[in-house]
Amino acid sequence: MASLLLLALCSLSVCAVPHVEEMRSQERLFLSSLGLSARPRPAGSRQARRHVPSALWRMFRRSENIQAQDSDPCTVAEYGVRGNIIRYVQDQGRLVSGWSSSCQACLEKQLFFNMSVLQPVELLSLAQLEVKFHWKPLRPAELLQGPQAISVSLYKVIRATLRGANPQANRRLLLSQSVQLQPEPTSITMDLTSLAESWRKPGRNYGLVMELLPLGADPKELVSFYPGNSLPTLTLPLVQASLVAVSLNPHQCRSRQRRSAVHLPVTPSNVCKARRLYIDFKDVGWQDWIIAPQGYMANYCHGECPFPLSESLNGTNHAILQTLVHSLDPHGTPQPCCVPIRLSPISMLYYDNNDNVVLRHYQDMVVDECGCR
Ligand SMILES: *[C@@H]1O[C@H](CO)[C@@H](O)[C@H](O)[C@H]1NC(C)=O
Ligand SMILES: *[C@@H]1O[C@H](CO)[C@@H](O)[C@H](O)[C@H]1NC(C)=O
Repeated sequence: MASLLLLALCSLSVCAVPHVEEMRSQERLFLSSLGLSARPRPAGSRQARRHVPSALWRMFRRSENIQAQDSDPCTVAEYGVRGNIIRYVQDQGRLVSGWSSSCQACLEKQLFFNMSVLQPVELLSLAQLEVKFHWKPLRPAELLQGPQAISVSLYKVIRATLRGANPQANRRLLLSQSVQLQPEPTSITMDLTSLAESWRKPGRNYGLVMELLPLGADPKELVSFYPGNSLPTLTLPLVQASLVAVSLNPHQCRSRQRRSAVHLPVTPSNVCKARRLYIDFKDVGWQDWIIAPQGYMANYCHGECPFPLSESLNGTNHAILQTLVHSLDPHGTPQPCCVPIRLSPISMLYYDNNDNVVLRHYQDMVVDECGCR
């Protein structure tokens, strides 16, 4: 994250204006520390984008308010598991229109979650499937008919099915349950951690298949269950699925201790100390993929490390000797540098390259203290 700070420092003309190529390589460095191969280019306008699930917003707000020194940076309290990255992996499966090949009266929906978005170093601690059913009856009569229910069966697909073969042979039932259709969205959740772990191996992810079957309907009416039918007896619910994946990048698990650095003194002085710096993500052109925060107080270190080095400058023994030598031979030996010696993390909510919404804690984003090194 020092790279982001450098980017910002340079824009303050503290150092020379960097070459475009250097800026790019700094950006690449920062993005790769976020686990991104390239800068995400989310499709469509901000409005058309996938909305941020409210549960993620809540977690983000909570992590922003965390002052607690004892809070573990690598536990997600909401799910009670180890982790520092929470992704809402989008379903990319198709709705198979028309009859299912395996069940004459069913409607079939494929579910596919691309688990390659996780970096190999990440340990998956939880994958929870969330399927939401939004039901908007087309005709008021449907509401009056009393409770409507569908039966939902979820299968994992264990291998690809060749054309003409029986797809049932390549499926294993995971869940079968009935869902009441109400005007308010209903949802089912299911733990799929070990299955999702197996999906991380290349070529091993055949996804899931969900079959929907209206319950209690008479067989003649089932004909009208077909979605293309102009006068459906039962309006189909809209199915929205996501996989909440909590994972741990063990290299980003240092303590989350945070000293409030927001109230840095503004006294003018040219001695080494942390200075206030607000980084607005708009200024670095990242506002289209970083959802929150819009910016943050990053601060930076600047100032002299003069002889004799006082204790408040947090110098190392080496720095103390270097200032001594510098005072004797100012041209031959430079002063020690004023650098960050304590940094703290922030949480970020962003879209990755697959348009998934990700919440992640980042180390070393805020300068809390400086020292002469
Ligand atoms: C899954 O995501 C990876 C990494 O973003 C990408 O390279 C790959 O093409 C995606 N696969 C599918 C099937 O979308
Ligand atoms: C050196 O560290 C102390 C506490 O460890 C801190 O109060 C002080 O601000 C630091 N000095 C600088 C220059 O940041």
